Amino acid sequence: MKTLSNISVKGRRVLLRIDINSPIANGKVLDSPRFKESAKTISYLLKKGAGVAILAHQGRKDGKDFLSLQQHAKILSKYIGKKIRYVDDLFGDLAVDNINKLKSGDAILLANVRNYDDESLPNKKGNRYQYLCKNFDIYVNDAFSASHRKQGSIILPAKYLQSCIGIGFESEIKTIKKFKLKSKNTLYVLGGEKIEDYLSIFNNLKNKKNKVLASGVLANLLLIAKGHNFGYENKWIEEKGYSHLIPKLKLICKKYSGQIILPVDFAIEDYNTRVELDLSDLPVQSKIWDVGHETVRIFKSEINKTKSIFMKGPLGFSEIPHFSYATVEILKEISLLSKRKRIFSLIGGGHLTTTLEKYKIPNNFSYISTSGGALIAYISGEKLPGLEALED
Ligand code: 3PG
Repeated sequence: MKTLSNISVKGRRVLLRIDINSPIANGKVLDSPRFKESAKTISYLLKKGAGVAILAHQGRKDGKDFLSLQQHAKILSKYIGKKIRYVDDLFGDLAVDNINKLKSGDAILLANVRNYDDESLPNKKGNRYQYLCKNFDIYVNDAFSASHRKQGSIILPAKYLQSCIGIGFESEIKTIKKFKLKSKNTLYVLGGEKIEDYLSIFNNLKNKKNKVLASGVLANLLLIAKGHNFGYENKWIEEKGYSHLIPKLKLICKKYSGQIILPVDFAIEDYNTRVELDLSDLPVQSKIWDVGHETVRIFKSEINKTKSIFMKGPLGFSEIPHFSYATVEILKEISLLSKRKRIFSLIGGGHLTTTLEKYKIPNNFSYISTSGGALIAYISGEKLPGLEALED
């Protein structure tokens, strides 16, 4: 794959795809490390004299995080030290006019690509990315974290334009390759909610020395697949449409039973306090907010037996202080072992980065990645459509 150092961008018009998909609280975009990372490539391009139009997404159509990119432009401008104008259009006259007016050293951010079905249906007849690309000389993909999606802005521009990867993309790939080389005896510590991306990680259990420590929705689903009844969580899982994963997870549990470590206790909320329950106390008509102390003890003991760790997603609702216990404890343990050079650690996804900052956990980790699902796909040996497009 070509990198920016292989291409001269001076005086040329660059179409740049970045990933600044970020957590949203009450309609406000929260600053996330993705902005700072993306700013590196944008600043490089501007300094080298390119005119840059930026493509990005926020949320998923109809999801609660689906927003315009107006606030993102302001946050990016802060990191770049120069105004990045937001243009509320992508394929229409407004976008094309602004692209044509771009001067060397200027950048604009175009509308959320997920507003348009040209993004979700890259193979649709007359897909407008091919016309948009006529306004550019070069395509740069700096969105490694979205490159596991077969979507227009990720796979199409590389067909029409001279292309390369950006600075953030290059650094993610380098480190993940290093992790793959070092990961002979790996523990995958998985939590959070975006579990549809997680299933490929079980392929890594073909190596009998590897293990998964599961928490969050994934653990609940695995326990349901093993026949446990949570009560309230079972209903929640059904409503969220996760039930179809259960037959597949049943097979996974059978095949890798000794290698998947599941929680044995949980925390629920009772009158604003944290109350812990054993697995045998279930079902309960309450939401599970965290895993319990005994689970943390078991997880820590597994962490102390391994050589490399990949952690993605919080173990509980780490935004809420009394349910951040397990996530913070596990991150602290991984940090300590990394400092003592006992393990190689790779931390992935936005939530954990926020937890690290909020609880001031020392950053001794071998690497903190801004990617989630793409990282999982890559370390599990899957082909990433965004990478394949650039290799062609
Ligand atoms: C992410 O946040 O992991 C990427 O931006 C991809 O987002 P998606 O899961 O909504 O495709």
